[in-house]
Amino acid sequence: MSGSPPTNRLLLAAVCLLLSRCSCSSRSLPDIPHIAPFFGTKTRYEEVKPHLLLDALSVNASVLRPPAGERCSPVHLSAVIRHGSRYPTVKNIRRIHRLSEMLRGDASGGSAGWQRDIRGRWENWFSEDMDGQLVTKGREELRQLAENLTRISLRSSSKHRCVSSVEAFQEGLWRRSGDRRLSSQPNVQYRHLVDDELLRFFENCRSYVEGVERNRTALQEVEKFKHGEEMEALRRRTAKKLVCTSVFPADLLEAAFFICSYELSIKSVHSPWCFLFDTDDAKVLEYKTDLKQYWKRSHGHVISGLSSCPLFHHVFRTLDRAGRPRRSTDEPPEPASILVGHAETLLPLLSLLGLYKDKTPPTASNYHTQHARSFRTSLIVPYAANLLFVLYDCQRGPRLQLLVNECPVRFPGLEAEDAPLYRDVRATYRHLLDGCDFHRECEGRAAGRGPNTEL
Ligand SMILES: *[C@@H]1O[C@H](CO)[C@@H](O)[C@H](O)[C@H]1NC(C)=O
Ligand SMILES: *[C@@H]1O[C@H](CO)[C@@H](O)[C@H](O)[C@H]1NC(C)=O
Ligand SMILES: *[C@@H]1O[C@H](CO)[C@@H](O)[C@H](O)[C@H]1NC(C)=O
Repeated sequence: MSGSPPTNRLLLAAVCLLLSRCSCSSRSLPDIPHIAPFFGTKTRYEEVKPHLLLDALSVNASVLRPPAGERCSPVHLSAVIRHGSRYPTVKNIRRIHRLSEMLRGDASGGSAGWQRDIRGRWENWFSEDMDGQLVTKGREELRQLAENLTRISLRSSSKHRCVSSVEAFQEGLWRRSGDRRLSSQPNVQYRHLVDDELLRFFENCRSYVEGVERNRTALQEVEKFKHGEEMEALRRRTAKKLVCTSVFPADLLEAAFFICSYELSIKSVHSPWCFLFDTDDAKVLEYKTDLKQYWKRSHGHVISGLSSCPLFHHVFRTLDRAGRPRRSTDEPPEPASILVGHAETLLPLLSLLGLYKDKTPPTASNYHTQHARSFRTSLIVPYAANLLFVLYDCQRGPRLQLLVNECPVRFPGLEAEDAPLYRDVRATYRHLLDGCDFHRECEGRAAGRGPNTEL
């Protein structure tokens, strides 16, 4: 590809990515639990991009796909990234404690090695002060990328795990640029902006908070599935493997499942808890997560996507600026814009863009017809998930390519090309570019209330 070499190298490094972990720990793990690809939003990035296990730093440009017959060079990358692996939140830590209490002293429950390990050898090391913090591995996940920090704009959500991620990302920048002085000093200056309006828009959108988040009926498919036949059968199966009692609370079932995920993503350990579930069990639990995310953060309710309008407009304003025609004497565009947020940040934006929208919505009653669904959170929003917009300067004008977790994804309605002309992308999203007004969508619809009546 032609174009100015430093920018190209930066973009290639960025695309291939920020996130590719130098995971010595993963490489030394001989057997990855068979249920590891089904942890939904608690899935490791490696499960989505397994080749990273082998070569974390390889730069694979084959994912950058401007048209072969046209001279193009990448000029800008806008990235929306989820934070890296984190510890469980307090809610889940308490469940793990309850589960651990429940099993303590229960001498029944099977004599297989893993069953004895759960009761005897396994130690509960989770404590409440871990609450949602980024783990060391999570920092490593974000600590990659390239060359010249000074002209990259960086914004983060205010949550500790996101701030740690964007800091680790900058350490990666310094390390890559060979600036030992910077990367070895403990108190170097990070220079990201914290911007919750942009990255935690979902908290500020009243129509969303009232219509979905605090609305019990909005998530009724999830509630139904929790008490449906698949989950009931799974509870009975699991109780039988673990304890004598036939009452096994649904939330503890999930806690047991996630102990396997946490011990893998935090400690690279193959936990005895993983043996409690076979692949079909894991798929049922994955579906529960997918249902929740679908109805809470995605296509289930249009307002979820619309709540991300500020982020949508921010990305397109940045792309507009980077793609503006320039004279050769003008400064080159900002090479990259990095935004670090949450799964709750990415899912609404992906939905607004029209991605992962299957013909039939997932519900409590159609689990068995949903195996080929595209909406799988394990694949879409694992830890360190990323949505990348790569802008190219091409002979026929700027082009835009979309990548989700480093895989090329085509724009809905523009499926003929990996990197359509930017003006065609804009035409496809014209209705959003001209509309998608956060205040109208999020305040205007609140029935019978003006925007200022709430204290
Ligand atoms: C790059 O990725 C493509 C598939 O995306 C793969 O076929 C190819 O072998 C990779 N190249 C290198 C050098 O890893
Ligand atoms: C980084 O960018 C600045 C401003 O564009 C430039 O002056 C400097 O030489 C660059 N440094 C490196 C190492 O490329
Ligand atoms: C709650 O959700 C249901 C189902 O989506 C919807 O019909 C209802 O209008 C919502 N209630 C509020 C207060 O938004």
